[in-house]
Amino acid sequence: MFKWLKSFACPKELAAAGVLGMNRRNFDVISKYNKRCLYPLVDDKVKTKELANKVGINTPGLIGKIEYQHEAKNILDIIKGRSEFVIKPAQGSGGKGVLVIKDYHDEIFVTASGRELSYNEVYQHISNILSGLYSLGGKYDTAIIEELVHFSNIFKDYSYQGVPDVRVIVYKGFPAMAMTRLPTKASGGRANLHQGAIGVGLDISTGKALHGVCRDVPISVQPDTGADLMKIEVPFWREHLIIGALAYEMTGLGYLGADIVLDANRGPMMLELNARPGLAIQIANGIGLKNRLQEIDNTYPSGLTAEQRVDFVLQKRAK
Ligand SMILES: Nc1ncnc2c1ncn2[C@@H]1O[C@H](COP(=O)(O)OP(=O)(O)O)[C@@H](O)[C@H]1O
Ligand SMILES: [Mg+2]
Repeated sequence: MFKWLKSFACPKELAAAGVLGMNRRNFDVISKYNKRCLYPLVDDKVKTKELANKVGINTPGLIGKIEYQHEAKNILDIIKGRSEFVIKPAQGSGGKGVLVIKDYHDEIFVTASGRELSYNEVYQHISNILSGLYSLGGKYDTAIIEELVHFSNIFKDYSYQGVPDVRVIVYKGFPAMAMTRLPTKASGGRANLHQGAIGVGLDISTGKALHGVCRDVPISVQPDTGADLMKIEVPFWREHLIIGALAYEMTGLGYLGADIVLDANRGPMMLELNARPGLAIQIANGIGLKNRLQEIDNTYPSGLTAEQRVDFVLQKRAK
């Protein structure tokens, strides 16, 4: 487990530090505030996208979708006239089955890492997606074809290849905690903390770096680039938080994680939502979630709009 957690000798001390453990998260928070019937809204990226667009949350545009094997050949019509796009499973997770195409021409698909795929290979990939190879529980799935995000180079010095994102934990509609996840050489360009990516906790009122962690160890310099992680300040911070807050209206989930990426031209965009966000964000912030959730329970007002909730948090935590 994490060194920061290890420094607490017993469960009593962990609780005193306000660390939310797996059991409490599951029973006191998730089962209480996240109705199971709402899960499909976030476990299916087509549904998530449709709902997001209804409440005015920016997401990468949907170019098309393929639901049945006999439609897989339609891919060439769907992408006609485009040179870049992403093909991914609607019910995937952990980046599995995501095909980022940076250059398409004459039935040749060039991936982000420079690999050239033929039409047959892409057809097979789509067929695999539909058969559920990458999906939760191996169920039949849908292949989504969506617009490529052009990631802002704000994070360029802080991550090694891959795509950094911002995760905001939202409780009862209030942004409660945030971090940015930065891919490293060791994480193979993936933004997953357990694969060796860096997590940097962000001050919820400013979007500025608080505390960095990589493989359970505190860190303040990006090991591959040498950049000072403590200089991170995420631009359009209020917009990031508004996406998170609106995700509550959008789904009705009392506890959720919103994954947000920064497009160079279109600003912050929601990539996906999670009804069971992990707890490592506490490590990246160097503080526990429990007290913060309790504070929201006990002292935050109800009946506010998403924007009002964000402004409340911005003012409250800035004090
Ligand atoms: N539209 C897109 N443009 C560019 N990269 C994308 C896009 N969609 C997904 N990716 C890349 O794939 C990763 C995983 O995609 P995501 O939608 O979060 O699915 P998962 O549920 O598998 O995590 C992202 O972190 C990003 O690196
Ligand atoms: Mg993801």
